Amino acid sequence: MNHVLAPAASASLIRSEVAGLPRYDPGAGADEVAALSGVRSVIKLSNNESPFGVSPAVAEAVRRGLADGVSRYPDPTGKRLIEAIGKALDVSGERVVLGNGSENILELLCRAVLDPGDLVVTQAPGFSLHEIFPRVMGARVEKVPVTVEFGFDATAWREALAAGPKLVFLANPCNPTGAMLGAGQLRRVVADIPESSLLVLDEAYGEFARPNPEYPDGLETLRELDRPWIVLRTFSKAYGLAGFRVGYGVASDAALIQALDRVRTPYNVNKPAQDAAVAALGDHTHLADTVRRTGLEIARVTDRLRAAGLRVVPSSTNFLFIDTGCRSDRVAQELHRAGIIVKAWREPGYENYIRASLSTPEENDVFVRRLAEICAKGIS
Ligand SMILES: Cc1ncc(COP(=O)(O)O)c(C=O)c1O
Repeated sequence: MNHVLAPAASASLIRSEVAGLPRYDPGAGADEVAALSGVRSVIKLSNNESPFGVSPAVAEAVRRGLADGVSRYPDPTGKRLIEAIGKALDVSGERVVLGNGSENILELLCRAVLDPGDLVVTQAPGFSLHEIFPRVMGARVEKVPVTVEFGFDATAWREALAAGPKLVFLANPCNPTGAMLGAGQLRRVVADIPESSLLVLDEAYGEFARPNPEYPDGLETLRELDRPWIVLRTFSKAYGLAGFRVGYGVASDAALIQALDRVRTPYNVNKPAQDAAVAALGDHTHLADTVRRTGLEIARVTDRLRAAGLRVVPSSTNFLFIDTGCRSDRVAQELHRAGIIVKAWREPGYENYIRASLSTPEENDVFVRRLAEICAKGIS
């Protein structure tokens, strides 16, 4: 069969907004790096996953769920998980939406809210899907830079918000810098958001920041606000369930959730994922242990990298944003050759930075040693 004409014909069908989009960069694959390095067990520090595993209750719940069979579709309403979230957070289930990862909810929000030409405001450097999903809808995205010290630039945000965005994506803590907004900073930026905007507060890494008394609980801060908002959280990070794909949003009102329900695929969260998340939510001890161990490693690895002469942004998360002093794609290549996967940052102005997630203390030590060697040697 002759397929020669097919690619050109397909290309002509693609919407211009989609044709011009960057692809989401998940980082190098473990198999690819294993082949390149000859290392069988690669050290994967590229996706901010948990090295501390899941609660034993998760494995048990999934096993039980599988024993019941998987020939039926999952509960499209996610009732049991929504009830568990509602109870844990003291909110009505009508204000909770589930997603195939919280990224799914970012996409649903864009689908439900954005018309071509609408303005979206978010931060730079930032999480790429805060830009990609709005652009799929033909929206314009303005990215407000952080300060030179990687802090939140309240003045620049006030100016951007004055232009009346339809959607505002604010991550707290921020990916990739790991920095967090304190309670006062969050209250001030919220006050600057126009009444006609929808605030999306992305707390994917919130569990790691919560031990810091300065870190504001988004739900508490927004509870009394008389305009639309949604707080997004995920089971992918501190709960260690990235492979199951489950996240959730708690919104200001049930009408917003109903709109998201209209644009989502009906069975967007599969049954093992729902079972796993209910079990994970109930194991406070495992969560506390993961958060404590992560905090200790973040402090220790930050100190070690600084002792090696590297600039590291103070992090309230499970990853570090590191100035390598040379082109980070080349540094990442060198690390890949050593069997270590990190993410080279590509946003303009940050091309010398890598983002590295934490792993176990042993793997972190290997990473620190190799990175220090590479940076000391320099890359021409
Ligand atoms: C800031 C931020 N938001 C949302 C997500 C999406 O996470 P998930 O879809 O796994 O819930 C991520 C993933 O890395 C993230 O960094």
